[in-house]
Amino acid sequence: MRCVLVSKSLDLRGYLRPELARLADRIEVIDHRPNGATADVRMAVAWHPPDDAFAHYPNLRAVCSIGAGVDSILNCPSLRSDIDVVRIVDPAQAQMMSGFVTWHVISHQRRFATYLAQQRDGVWQRLRQRRAQDVPVGILGYGEIGQRVAADLARLGFPVMAWSRTEKPTPAGIKGFHGTPGLADMLDDTEVLVNLLPLTSQTRGILNRETFARMRRGGYLIQVGRGEHLVEDDLLAALDNGQLAGAALDVFAVEPLRPRHPFWRHPKVIITPHDASDVSLAAIGATFLATADAVREGRRPPHTVDRSRGY
Ligand code: NDP
Ligand code: OXD
Repeated sequence: MRCVLVSKSLDLRGYLRPELARLADRIEVIDHRPNGATADVRMAVAWHPPDDAFAHYPNLRAVCSIGAGVDSILNCPSLRSDIDVVRIVDPAQAQMMSGFVTWHVISHQRRFATYLAQQRDGVWQRLRQRRAQDVPVGILGYGEIGQRVAADLARLGFPVMAWSRTEKPTPAGIKGFHGTPGLADMLDDTEVLVNLLPLTSQTRGILNRETFARMRRGGYLIQVGRGEHLVEDDLLAALDNGQLAGAALDVFAVEPLRPRHPFWRHPKVIITPHDASDVSLAAIGATFLATADAVREGRRPPHTVDRSRGY
């Protein structure tokens, strides 16, 4: 099976080197060349592909993401409608994400930013403690990752609510919401809002002034979905007028975040460089193999996304 690596933002060959070496006898990998049309390529691995990337491969059957998200592939203008797009499902990634989100939830609950400021000023001042039970967390997205995050936070005693597109069963300790009315109901009780949605035409711009205004005053945003979910000026206004006490931002509309962006020096913002949780290389390798087998056998690969819903 011949597979092409396509990315304008990442050295995929370097990033995936150990897995590509391990799979070398099953998958032959070539690098994308802007002018090199190749008829024998049937599979691609892509992350932020250039606009015309897929036009060069007339017999391409499937494109694998190297992450849970596939938005940069689905938004590529040269992606034909008959090409399957495959995401990665990796419980190890969900576990890493859960740790990342829990870190920020507890940091807000225990007022870690205030302690840091006190230490800087040499102030010994105990703060009123709040129990986990008093800090309700609303999670946008109850999929592969959202479910793990919700379960772990509920185990720690946080009242957890989770919002999905379709109605989903939830275990004790997690309250489910769905659809547009469900979002409003969840936000009314939310203090910490965690964004774990895929980027689609329905979810773009969902973190906006109306969303923040419905949350508890002094709430907190943990933004780990995609940068385009957030209306940046609305977040800055909500932070400046006190509706939100702070925000942890891991993803941005333009990455890397440009050097003079106001988020960098905002006292209520914590920035990480799209580093909340990577997929493990082992999971990526397993997905490539399963996709190559399916393409060879003329089947739809496992974890092919539904292109009509956008995730
Ligand atoms: P899934 O596809 O497994 O789950 C997506 C969830 O979002 C589902 O519950 C789905 O609802 C819900 N959803 C989608 N559209 C809507 C909508 N219009 N209204 C309400 N709910 C909606 O995705 P994952 O959990 O694997 O990942 C989620 C996202 O997290 C990724 O797409 C990516 O953007 C981001 N991510 C970020 C990382 C980082 O390092 N910052 C790392 C990994 C992922 P339903 O259940 O009804 O289908
Ligand atoms: C992903 C990501 O989608 O890293 O997996 O953002």
